[in-house]
Amino acid sequence: MLVSMKGILSDAAKGGYAVGGFNFASLESGMGAIRASEELGIPFVLEHAPAHEEFVPFDVAAPIMVQLARAAKTPVVAHLDHGNSVELCLKALKLGFSSVMFDGSALPYEENIRQTAFVCRVAHEFGATVEAELGSMPHNLRGELHEYTPEDFYTKPDEAKRFVEETGVDALAISFGTVHGVYKTTPKLSFTVIDEVRRSTGDLPLVMHGGSGLSEDDYHQAIARGIRKINYYTYGAIAAGKAVYEIVKEKPEGLQFHDVAVRATAAVCADVKRVMRIFKP
Ligand code: 13P
Repeated sequence: MLVSMKGILSDAAKGGYAVGGFNFASLESGMGAIRASEELGIPFVLEHAPAHEEFVPFDVAAPIMVQLARAAKTPVVAHLDHGNSVELCLKALKLGFSSVMFDGSALPYEENIRQTAFVCRVAHEFGATVEAELGSMPHNLRGELHEYTPEDFYTKPDEAKRFVEETGVDALAISFGTVHGVYKTTPKLSFTVIDEVRRSTGDLPLVMHGGSGLSEDDYHQAIARGIRKINYYTYGAIAAGKAVYEIVKEKPEGLQFHDVAVRATAAVCADVKRVMRIFKP
C-alpha cells in the first residue's frame, strides 16, 4: 500500500529502529526490495535518484514505482531521492509520489531554506512528506573520490535547528562521515554529530545517506542515536552483480537474459532482507 513517510518514520521512532530507503535503479532492484518487504512484513521507502537516470529514466520508473507501492502488501513509500530542483519535486508529486527529497545541500544556506520551505508547502498540500539535506556528502559512485576531510562536510547543529524550524521538513538527511558509493577505507562516523543534531532539532527523524557498506555496529549505534531512515544501494547492487557473475559462470553458453534478471531480483531480495533485519532487529 502506498503511504507517505510520516507514519512509518514515527513508528520507527517509537520502536527505536530505522526503515530502509532502497533505490529503484532497475526493475530488478525495485521488485527485489518489494519482495523482501512483503516476506518480512517490514515497510520501506522505494526511491529513484537522478544519478540513476541513465539506468532507468524517471519518467519510466515513476509510474512503475507508484504501481509497485500501491500493489504491495506492506506500506511502501514512493519517494524521490536527491531531487535536485524544485521542478523535479513538483513533477514527482504530480506523478503520484507520496514523498520527495529536495536536496539543496549545494545551495547557499538561506537559499536552501527558501526552496525547501516552498517544496514543503506544496508537498504537504498533496499529503506527501519531504526530506531535505543539510551538510553535504561526497560521492564516490565511480571510485573517483579524492582525499577529503569528513569534518568539513558535517551538518552543523545550530544550522539544522533553524533550518527545521523555518522549512517544516518531515525528515533531515545529515552528514556525519558516510559517503555514497564504495568505501575506499573503513568509514569513521561521528556519532556525536547525530547526538547534537538530534538535540537541536527536537527529535525530527534523521536520515543516513551513503548507508551501504557499514558494519552492523555502525548501523546499531546510528539508530540508537536517532537515525530513522537509512539509504542503501551500492553494496546491494554489488551483491546482485556477484549473483549474476555466478549464473554466467554456471551457464556460459545459451544463458537467456530473463534468467539473469530473475537471479538478480533474488539476490537483491536476499540482501535487502539481510539489512532490513539489522535496521529493525
Ligand atoms: P550507498 O551508495 O551507500 O548505497 O548510498 C545510497 C544513498 O544514499 C542513496 O541516496
